[in-house]
Amino acid sequence: MFDDYDDSYDGFGDVDSGDFIKFGAMAQLREKKTLNRKIIGKWVSVFLDDDGNPYAMEMSCKHQGANLAEGKVANEVVTCPRHFWKYNIRTGKAITEYSPDLRRHAIREKDGDIYVSLRPILR
Ligand code: FES
Repeated sequence: MFDDYDDSYDGFGDVDSGDFIKFGAMAQLREKKTLNRKIIGKWVSVFLDDDGNPYAMEMSCKHQGANLAEGKVANEVVTCPRHFWKYNIRTGKAITEYSPDLRRHAIREKDGDIYVSLRPILR
């Protein structure tokens, strides 16, 4: 899990550091494919890639705010259900060229639960 995903240089501690909030159970994520909740007033979604690795990013599409958690995920890419803009769920990068990127959050797993950083990754 998280094999090529290193957020340590963004200064996040472990799940007990106060940098993270418990987001949900990994088993629930595997069942539902996405988990969603507000973090400090902003909706955040956790997505699973094709290998079952979780990634967290803002939930609203940069076009007109559609819920990306209702989009289809394939090959690390979520497609917006409304007008089909695309984003990489691992990097938050927009694949649709005229879209801004999405904010990513750091993510951890401990004892079967998913934890997501309270603040986005700053790069
Ligand atoms: S709202 Fe997502 S592409 Fe239009």
